[in-house]
Amino acid sequence: MNLFTPVETEKLRMRNRIVRSATAESMADEDGNVTDRMIEFYKKLAMGGAGTIITGFMYVSEKGRAMKRMTGISKEKHVEGLSRLVREVKKVSREKWEDDVVFVAQIVHAGRQNHPFEDPVAPSAVLEGLTKVMPRELAYDEILNIIDDFVEASLRAERAGFDAVQLHAAHGYLLSQFISPHTNRRKDEFGKERAKILLDIFDGIRERSEIPVMIKMNTVDFIPGGLEIDEAVRIAKLLDKAGFEAIEVSGGMWESALYTKYNVVCQNVKKSGEAYFADYAFEIKKNVSIPVMLVGGIRRKDTAESLLRRIDFISMARPLIRDAFLPEKWLKGDNESDCISCNKCLKYISSRELACYAEKD
Ligand SMILES: Cc1cc2nc3c(=O)[nH]c(=O)nc-3n(C[C@H](O)[C@H](O)[C@H](O)COP(=O)(O)O)c2cc1C
Repeated sequence: MNLFTPVETEKLRMRNRIVRSATAESMADEDGNVTDRMIEFYKKLAMGGAGTIITGFMYVSEKGRAMKRMTGISKEKHVEGLSRLVREVKKVSREKWEDDVVFVAQIVHAGRQNHPFEDPVAPSAVLEGLTKVMPRELAYDEILNIIDDFVEASLRAERAGFDAVQLHAAHGYLLSQFISPHTNRRKDEFGKERAKILLDIFDGIRERSEIPVMIKMNTVDFIPGGLEIDEAVRIAKLLDKAGFEAIEVSGGMWESALYTKYNVVCQNVKKSGEAYFADYAFEIKKNVSIPVMLVGGIRRKDTAESLLRRIDFISMARPLIRDAFLPEKWLKGDNESDCISCNKCLKYISSRELACYAEKD
C-alpha cells in the first residue's frame, strides 16, 4: 500500500490517497458565481494528479459569507456554474488519467469570522479576541434555518455533480464555533450537545439524499477553554456512528494567534516540522472506523508514505498552490514540495486571486 494505491471509502473510490485540501480561490464573481478563471484553476489541479479535490469553502447563505469573491452555493442560480466546473474537471481527469477524480464541495457558514463583519453571529456572544468582533448569539430558530441552509447547499452540490460535500467545522468558522466549548456556551440542546448541529445537518441531508458527507474538523483550538483532543475524539465517534464518510483533521481558529503568536492552521513547516497535526489525527483514527485524512505541513513523499501506515489519506493545500502537479511529480519519483510556508498565498487571499506569491511582492 502506498500513496498511489486506490482506496475505497463507504461510498467512494479514490484512485490515490492524495487529497487537495479545501483552499479558498477568491475567483468567484461578486454574486458568488463560478468564473472561467476558476474552472481553469481546477482543471490544472485535476491534471496535477490528486485523487480527491476539495473546493475552497463555499457559503451556504449570504449571511454566512466569509469574504469577497468567495464561491456561493446558497442559491439555485449558483448550480449552473458549479455544474460546468464539475463537468470540466471530470473531463480533464478522465482524459489525462483515464480515471475519475473525486470532487468534493466544501460548505461553510462563517459565523463570527465573517467579512466585513456585518451582523456577525455565533452560538454565543463571545468576543473574538483578535478582531474584537462581538457576535450576536443565534436564536434557536436561526440555528434551524442554518441547518436547512447546509442541507439545501448539499442538495445543490449533488445536483451540480459533486461526489460529496465536506462540512467545514474547522478553523473557527460557525460549525467549529459550535463544537468549541470556548465559543459555544449555550444552555439549550445545541450547547448541551455541541455536536448536535453536525448530526442534525447530516440527518437533514440523509432525509433527502445519499450524497457522501465528509467533515473537516478541529481537534484542538489552541485557546484556553477551547476544544481539546479528548472532546474532539468524543465528537468524532458520534460522527462515525452517524455515517459520515471521512474526517479531515485540523486545528486552530483566528483567535488562536493571540495565544500561540503564530498561525496555527498554516504553520511554518521549518519551525513546526512536517505533519504538525499528526498526533491528533492518530488519536482520532484509533477511535473511529471511518477514514481519516490528515492536513497541515505535509511536504515530502517519504513523510506522506509513512503517515499512511497510521491514517488513510494525506491532504495538502499550500504545496498544491505552489505546484498543482506535485502529485504527478511524486508519482514519477520526486520527493519534496518546494513550498516554503511563507504564507503569502494566505496574506493576499482577500485581495488577490489564489496563487503562490513566494517570489512576488
Ligand atoms: C490561501 C489559503 C486558503 C485556505 N482556504 C481554506 C478553505 O477554504 N477551507 C479550509 O478548510 N481550509 C482552508 N485553508 C487551510 C488549508 O486547507 C490547510 O488546512 C492548511 O493550509 C494547512 O495545510 P498545508 O500545510 O498543506 O497548507 C486555506 C489555506 C490557505 C493557505
